[in-house]
Amino acid sequence: MYSRVIGTGSYLPAQQVTNFDLEKRIDTSNDWIVSRSGIHSRHFAAEHEMTSDLGVQASLRALEMAGLQPNDIDLVIVATTCPDQIFPSTACILQNKLGIKNGGAAFDVQAVCGGFVYALNTADLYIRGGQAKRALVVGAEVMSRILDWNDRTTSVLFGDGAGAVILQASDTPGILGGKLHADGSHHDILKVPGSVSNGVVQGAPFIQMDGKAVFKFAVTVLSEVVEEVLAEHNLQGSDIDWLVPHQANIRIMEATAKKLGLGMDKVVVTVSQHGNTSSASIPLALDAAVRDGRVQPGQHILLEAVGGGFTWGAVLIRW
Ligand SMILES: CC(C)(COP(=O)(O)OP(=O)(O)OC[C@H]1O[C@@H](n2cnc3c(N)ncnc32)[C@H](O)[C@@H]1OP(=O)(O)O)[C@@H](O)C(=O)NCCC(=O)NCCS
Repeated sequence: MYSRVIGTGSYLPAQQVTNFDLEKRIDTSNDWIVSRSGIHSRHFAAEHEMTSDLGVQASLRALEMAGLQPNDIDLVIVATTCPDQIFPSTACILQNKLGIKNGGAAFDVQAVCGGFVYALNTADLYIRGGQAKRALVVGAEVMSRILDWNDRTTSVLFGDGAGAVILQASDTPGILGGKLHADGSHHDILKVPGSVSNGVVQGAPFIQMDGKAVFKFAVTVLSEVVEEVLAEHNLQGSDIDWLVPHQANIRIMEATAKKLGLGMDKVVVTVSQHGNTSSASIPLALDAAVRDGRVQPGQHILLEAVGGGFTWGAVLIRW
């Protein structure tokens, strides 16, 4: 038993915020942001929009592409680092908003920017293990709510959005395999240290990052994990039709592509318009490439991501 992707969908909130808009808000410049990250603009959710709301819109689009109704889904996994509330999980909230009433499992995955590959790999294993037939895997974030506007190094990098993928059990392989890793000893270089205790927020509920340390770590582990996944399937960089990386920073994507011997014309890049949407970035980019026809049946698609924790991983798909 294998799992195949039968639908993708994505959603961006209406409000687009350009680097020039940020210039009016904080001491930064379009040139600095573009040269350091490749980001030109990002989207921010409206005040009333929750992570689950963005996830619902992306899910409905994926369901439509798959030709399914919500109750056909028997597993919901939401990757998010911005849950609607402490509990219930955003996956349970999303399941309810979609009107799924079949009792299928629903849970969140918290691996920050590594979240979507963690969630997709987990859903694939559920299907391979016979515990689910049709899984909805969502990455959804409202990163704008955990930005410290006194920290210009981090606040210019992130955006909001959601993406969704539907997996279905199949006799023929779609997802070929994946690898997940974590090393908690690096927990301090990218974090939101805040927590709630006895009704009081303890610690800063905003992103804090040692950008240079994150950059170095990301480039190293991403190269390792893509090589690891390719070797396991006797493939080389040149066999990859599309690399769909986590969209943190164009320079990290360029470094990974170079290590694989891939030109940037083989890399799906949306960071310029989306910013870093954490766990939403891969399904947002994948959906763009599916809908504009770049991704075609039979192609090899490699997803990879790294995020706070640290977590990292890759998933290889034959489309
Ligand atoms: C964050 C990042 C873009 C910062 O780039 P950098 O070259 O390391 O920048 P530095 O922090 O050394 O700052 C360089 C200068 O730019 C300034 N600067 C920082 N943010 C700025 C901003 N938004 N606008 C203008 N100038 C800024 C700094 O104050 C510093 O000035 P100084 O030299 O006068 O002190 C870079 O480290 C990076 O891409 N890290 C990885 C981030 C990432 O991908 N995280 C997510 C992983 S999931």
